[in-house]
Amino acid sequence: MRRGEYGYDAPYFPAIFGLLSVAAGLGAAIFWWHGEFRLARQMTFYFVICFGNTSSFLYATRRGKFLEWERILDYLNLRGDEAVLDMGCGRGAVLTAVARRLTTGRVTGVDIWSKVDQSGNAMEVTLRNALLEGVSDRVQIETEDMCALPFPDSSFDLVVSSLAIHNLRSNADRKRAIKEGFRVLKPGGRIVIADIRATALYEEELLALGASNVERRRLGWRFWWGNPIASTSLLTASKALV
Ligand SMILES: C[S@@+](CC[C@H](N)C(=O)[O-])C[C@H]1O[C@@H](n2cnc3c(N)ncnc32)[C@H](O)[C@@H]1O
Repeated sequence: MRRGEYGYDAPYFPAIFGLLSVAAGLGAAIFWWHGEFRLARQMTFYFVICFGNTSSFLYATRRGKFLEWERILDYLNLRGDEAVLDMGCGRGAVLTAVARRLTTGRVTGVDIWSKVDQSGNAMEVTLRNALLEGVSDRVQIETEDMCALPFPDSSFDLVVSSLAIHNLRSNADRKRAIKEGFRVLKPGGRIVIADIRATALYEEELLALGASNVERRRLGWRFWWGNPIASTSLLTASKALV
């Protein structure tokens, strides 16, 4: 059971779609009341679309994301002694899930704490979540840009990133972040990215960097951000042993 409080990803999205669904629902009721059935049907259609998008988004951000990451981490089958990096850790949804699976290992989270990308995003909140989850001893948090990581080459056994790289401003920045994530990976290490956009670009960049076992697939409905078009994809790759 989760004890921390992890906020909402891109909080403006459910807020806008929630308001639109209220407006469409009210409009439908008013048009039915006045006997304007064609307009009422149209408004009901908009209500269903907006309400469906809001509900799916809220489910993904509050529950689906956590369930899917537990599955991803099951699949990764960690030993427990790994050094792990979470690029764009935010309030620590993935960071603390990883830390729970570590024994002697440590997970480092880097972030610039954008409150547009995640509500209430702040280093203190993440540290508090680690405390509430009982994993503080295995967690380290740093304020750093994932495009210029302050770690030496080959520092981590596993690099993860959840819904963060697409938030960078340009594809050049996204490529830089992938390059950095791959640079700090130890030979034999794995990089695992879940994201909503641009995963084909990450795949291309990883292949260009010489990554092996590069695989990309769509994750299921729990990780849809409103509708199937806004689904999350998972990209996994390894760094070959030298
Ligand atoms: C949608 S949130 C996801 C947070 C977390 N990974 C999760 O799944 O809950 C995206 C995160 O990426 C962070 N971020 C955006 N640009 C960044 C950058 N250049 N370097 C590090 N983190 C960044 C944001 O501050 C935010 O915490």
